[in-house]
Amino acid sequence: MIALGNDHTALQMKRWVIEVLDELGLAYEDFGTNSGESCDYPVPARLAAEAVAEGRCELGILICGTGVGIGLAANKVKGIRCAMVSEPYSAMMARRHNDANMISIGARVIGEETAKMIVRAFLTEGFEGGRHQRRVDQITQIEKDNLL
Ligand code: RB5
Repeated sequence: MIALGNDHTALQMKRWVIEVLDELGLAYEDFGTNSGESCDYPVPARLAAEAVAEGRCELGILICGTGVGIGLAANKVKGIRCAMVSEPYSAMMARRHNDANMISIGARVIGEETAKMIVRAFLTEGFEGGRHQRRVDQITQIEKDNLL
């Protein structure tokens, strides 16, 4: 199950993301918004991120205007490693090296094809472990030490 969350800037971009999920045969849970009315990105960020952190969803994709605000909000949820990406190489490496469990993208930053390439990369790559596990553990330790 893939968690989706977005603000009002991202309705069309979410449709493109869903096209890729359908193409890959992946189910999703949509935490909104589905309205064009202005909304606050921390709300869908939190709902989707908590679904991932609690294991109800394996991975998550967030979208706001830049991808920044919604990614920052998601990263405040314990256990979330949300990579803010605007090209496919970083999306691929965020899975391989950082074990990112969410990405955030900017509806006002990238277009349809780049977004689809990012989503495909993120959803089809896997974590390499090894030395990267040690580094991810160090990230988790920062979280623990700061009582996030
Ligand atoms: C909304 O205008 C915009 O601020 C929001 O979508 C996002 O880009 C924030 O980081």
